[in-house]
Amino acid sequence: MLFNASHEVILVIDDNPTNLELLHNALGSCGYEVLVEMDGFSGIEQAKSYPPDLILLDVQMPGIDGFETCRKLQFDPSTKNIPVIFMTALTDTTDKVKGLHLGAVDYITKPFRQEEALARIQTHLKIRRLSLELEQQKQELEQVVQKRTSELTFALQELKKTQLQLIQNEKLSTIGQLVSGIAHEINNPVGCITGNLEQATLAVKDAVDYIRLYQTNFPNPGIEIEQKAEEIDIEFLLEDLPKMFVSMQTGIERIRNISTSLRTFSRADVDCKVSVNIHEGLESTLMILQHRLKAQDYRPAIQVIKKYAEIPKVECYLGQLNQVFMNILANAIDALEEANLGRSYEAIKASPNQIIVETEMKNEQQVAIRIIDNGMGMTKDVKQRIFDHLFTTKPVGKGTGLGLTIAHQIIVEKHGGTIEVNSEWGGGTEFAIALPIV
Ligand SMILES: Nc1ncnc2c1ncn2[C@@H]1O[C@H](COP(=O)(O)OP(=O)(O)OP(=O)(O)O)[C@@H](O)[C@H]1O
Ligand SMILES: [Mg+2]
Repeated sequence: MLFNASHEVILVIDDNPTNLELLHNALGSCGYEVLVEMDGFSGIEQAKSYPPDLILLDVQMPGIDGFETCRKLQFDPSTKNIPVIFMTALTDTTDKVKGLHLGAVDYITKPFRQEEALARIQTHLKIRRLSLELEQQKQELEQVVQKRTSELTFALQELKKTQLQLIQNEKLSTIGQLVSGIAHEINNPVGCITGNLEQATLAVKDAVDYIRLYQTNFPNPGIEIEQKAEEIDIEFLLEDLPKMFVSMQTGIERIRNISTSLRTFSRADVDCKVSVNIHEGLESTLMILQHRLKAQDYRPAIQVIKKYAEIPKVECYLGQLNQVFMNILANAIDALEEANLGRSYEAIKASPNQIIVETEMKNEQQVAIRIIDNGMGMTKDVKQRIFDHLFTTKPVGKGTGLGLTIAHQIIVEKHGGTIEVNSEWGGGTEFAIALPIV
């Protein structure tokens, strides 16, 4: 029977030249590459420098015997996986068992029965091939698993990011709804007061005129009326009453403005863009931030300097743009507050906190919006990372590091615009937005 051997290498270690020749010829004629060594040490060296697919190992050899050779081969990581077949005398059962215990995969008996020896050799080479294939598949599988795991880890991170963003958006839209609901509710009583106030102003004017007429025509109304007039300080009252109504009207006007700003700010964005006046968005955002801008015990009010140019209406999602203005302005206020730390009221008053809000045509297709603060600015390192998701230098609970990520997304992805930052540590910060008009 002829074996169809692929290019496989068999190392024969035997001190008997006759055996060697026999095996060399038999295996060689089956297409195997056959290497021979005549003692244990040379065999081990050969196996290390040119690892064969199988070793045929004689038990009885001068120097180190087959068992010792096998032990050493098993001990060395570079040779331990090479299958070893012992060659023993037919009668020597103890040797066979000992060899198998030492890690040999099989034995063949001398004198050789060629067909049986070749069949065993071929079987073990096949097992060797299959286990190598299995090992390779295992490694490939491990690589695939590793790749999938890292893909999944990445996907999970993305999911977490999206989830945070969704929560943020959801929060904003809930606040938006709440705010516009409140603004709407304020409108009814405000409308009622406004209407009545106009009537009341006229009525009070009439009443004052009427009393004046009385005073002119009846300069001596009698002691009771004169006493009462003195008691209520009629002259002051008649002077002051119309003024009180004027200031009430101013107050109502202010409430009305706030309500309009709230509604503009929280305008739920429809699916398509609308043509809007950017200044309205900026104004309503500033109005909402008023409580953070006004004077405090430790500092005067933050000065807001508006430099609005004539710009056309812009096609945009105003609610989202307001969110951008809000994030940038809130950051500017944070930066000013941080710069104020350790400074006295007088020192802050001498070089006051300022935010400049500037608009202009950047070119024929784009408007530019700049928000500049004279806060503490940022280091190069921070500047490079401000748009990164979850990057914040603020304490836990104060900043989430989402504000500018969202701003970037809204300006760049939603509006096809650009957002840039100019800042130096100690030198304030400028955010420059460019938005296409259509
Ligand atoms: N005007 C500014 N001056 C100085 N540093 C700024 C300014 N604006 C942003 N930064 C820096 O950029 C970082 C990221 O800002 P971002 O608005 O994304 O997150 P945050 O303000 O920390 O948290 P939040 O999610 O609450 O907005 C800030 O933590 C701050 O270090
Ligand atoms: Mg922020």
